[in-house]
Amino acid sequence: MSDKNSPGDLKGARRRVSWSAAFSVGVPEIDADHRILFELIGQMRDAATAFEGDMVTGSVLAALADYVDYHFEREERVMEAVGYPEEKQHAERHARLRKKVEEFVRRYNQEPSDGLANELAEFLEDWLNHHILDEDMRYRPYAENNRAASVAASSIGIEFFMDSEDDAVTGPEERPA
Ligand SMILES: [Fe+2]
Repeated sequence: MSDKNSPGDLKGARRRVSWSAAFSVGVPEIDADHRILFELIGQMRDAATAFEGDMVTGSVLAALADYVDYHFEREERVMEAVGYPEEKQHAERHARLRKKVEEFVRRYNQEPSDGLANELAEFLEDWLNHHILDEDMRYRPYAENNRAASVAASSIGIEFFMDSEDDAVTGPEERPA
């Protein structure tokens, strides 16, 4: 585990954020999601800067967009199961972020570019960093060591992830000429 970067510190020469214990919200499944999201963001940045990175950038972007949906669904189930009083406002923030990611995917499909992929990676990393520390942490007292939270967190499976097709990224060969 890397603890090199301190949460919240994204100023200056954009150091990549990776998950550390400081990000733990007390629900292992959600912590695992957050770790995967940071990894996918890093992969997208790697793809965008790699030689012939377009080959993979689109796939990583599609996986990231799907995983965001999957993760938000899990988190919303957990908040509901533990009776978190601010669930509605929290879910609204998720909805706004979903819209933003969809918009990025649409722009990328119209005109794939490494610059756009990097822009999304930076935006998402910043968003996730602050969202976990400022928003997700608020449900921690309700969810930590709560059996209802772990039941809800495991109630969503890979089939949800696989079914999510609305934000699919098309490869270069499927793009209209
Ligand atoms: Fe959240």
